[in-house]
Amino acid sequence: MNKPVALITGASVGIGEQFARQLSERGRDVVLVARDAARLEVLAKEIDGLGGGRAEVLAADLTDPQQLGAVEARARTVDILVNNAGFGSFGPFHTLDVETEIREINLNVIALVRLTHAAASAMAERGRGGILNVSSLAGFQPGPSNATYGATKAFVTSFTEAVHEELKGTGVSVTALCPGFTHTEFQTRASVPASEVPGFMWQDAPEVARAGLEGLAKNRAIVIPGGLNKVMGNFSMVTPHAITRRVGAMVLKRAAN
Ligand SMILES: NC(=O)c1ccc[n+]([C@@H]2O[C@H](COP(=O)([O-])OP(=O)(O)OC[C@H]3O[C@@H](n4cnc5c(N)ncnc54)[C@H](OP(=O)(O)O)[C@@H]3O)[C@@H](O)[C@H]2O)c1
Repeated sequence: MNKPVALITGASVGIGEQFARQLSERGRDVVLVARDAARLEVLAKEIDGLGGGRAEVLAADLTDPQQLGAVEARARTVDILVNNAGFGSFGPFHTLDVETEIREINLNVIALVRLTHAAASAMAERGRGGILNVSSLAGFQPGPSNATYGATKAFVTSFTEAVHEELKGTGVSVTALCPGFTHTEFQTRASVPASEVPGFMWQDAPEVARAGLEGLAKNRAIVIPGGLNKVMGNFSMVTPHAITRRVGAMVLKRAAN
């Protein structure tokens, strides 16, 4: 029998690299997707055979429709899909480059929807499979200075919860992972003033990835890794946006000054 195959987007670094390592350790064949082929090759060499599975590189820019199409085709054949690739932007929306904001929507939302559709339709037909969509705590409330990013993650959480419910009883698990601040390249890439965020608010990528995979194995609709993140996420879920958006604006203003 063929080994189960997992496809991970954004696998070159950060949380995605941890998904790739942990799935490989569990004996899966892994398909590694990101733009930086050289970085993926280094990782693939390192983890190939870790738990007995193979590591394959599929370099692609998921904001390019043609390259995304090639990854969609591969996603139809896998047992686990981890939609992890994503990026953020920081600052008042009207001051940011609109093309970057659109690329952010294309990666965080459009690519995730297309890949979920490709994988979910094939998995439902086979009667088994798992899809883990990486969202964020930022999706639980409007995020001033983080407007597009927060909105993309609100979409990812809502969309994933709905598909989770639709696929109940089909053998296909669907989970949204909603991390808080996690040590990766994310903050540098997004120009987030991360040094202002107190140490106790941070998690490391391995524990975040582990929580996501455990949640998917139990077919949880939403996973919030970490005790403090759970408290913050639950607070945001039950508090009116009129309050959480103001609190968010105050916190981010302080961080930016
Ligand atoms: N770190 C946090 O604090 C945090 C908190 C909550 C949620 N998240 C979410 O966690 C996920 C992973 O982020 P991370 O923190 O691990 O960030 P990261 O270290 O910046 O990694 C992002 C990954 O996405 C890939 N990527 C970026 N643009 C891409 C594109 N156009 N096409 C294909 N791949 C692309 C990157 O590789 P290439 O550059 O080689 O393409 C990289 O592998 C994201 O969805 C993020 O929104 C992160």
